[in-house]
Amino acid sequence: MLRLGVNVDHAATVRQARYREVSRGMAPEPSPVDFALESAGAGAHGITAHLREDRRHMQEADLLRLAREVRLPLNLEMANTSRMLAFALRLRPANICMVPEDRREVTTEGGLRVRGAERAIGRAVSRLQAAGSAVSLFIDPVEGEVRAAAETGARFVELHTGAFSRAVGKRELAREVRRLARAAALADGLGVGVNAGHGINYGNVRALFDVPHLNELNIGHSIVSRALMVGARRAVREMLALMRGYRP
Ligand code: PXP
Repeated sequence: MLRLGVNVDHAATVRQARYREVSRGMAPEPSPVDFALESAGAGAHGITAHLREDRRHMQEADLLRLAREVRLPLNLEMANTSRMLAFALRLRPANICMVPEDRREVTTEGGLRVRGAERAIGRAVSRLQAAGSAVSLFIDPVEGEVRAAAETGARFVELHTGAFSRAVGKRELAREVRRLARAAALADGLGVGVNAGHGINYGNVRALFDVPHLNELNIGHSIVSRALMVGARRAVREMLALMRGYRP
């Protein structure tokens, strides 16, 4: 079964557009925790949230509430910094996805550069996994990064599907699917689980059926956007229906 992790960051993006400063008596909306609860009610398999250094959407309090109130595995996306490491070791979510971070980007644009940093990343991976969180490394679907990720001891990679989601025309799409498929097969052969995310939407998700070994897709923007039209539960159910029938 292909699992769906719903990324709830953009529910918080909308909230922060109005409620950056919160004073007594205010009721900030929408709540990313409520969005997660609705997603859980619709059958999502996990909740993903990125605590960015600039706190542009999710806040620490949101992560604490997600861990406490939502009965689904929580996947914390984080940069490999000492402050985030300390936070993650206190929170101890089921899953952690290590991502690169650049304050100027709108959303995570490229994969982590693991090659050349295997030892430093490996140390963080060991500490997090010893504390009970399974770590995935968000990487571009290229051989060198998959091999480097395997060397760190991380249990999963999350393959960056940004280039796939921007592919124009059948040939370009087929090329990106082949790149993802090769990276997934290599990771699986090295004993590393395979997730994927970034830019996956209702129109392109089934093209990923040609990528083997997928465990989980992490999808945010498209589901939150669809939820504005039809509500969170229906948006999640529609995505789950499209994902049905995948064979790893
Ligand atoms: N996976 C990772 C590691 C991410 O950083 C993001 C957000 O950029 C996503 C998945 C979800 O991407 P999207 O919002 O485009 O679905």
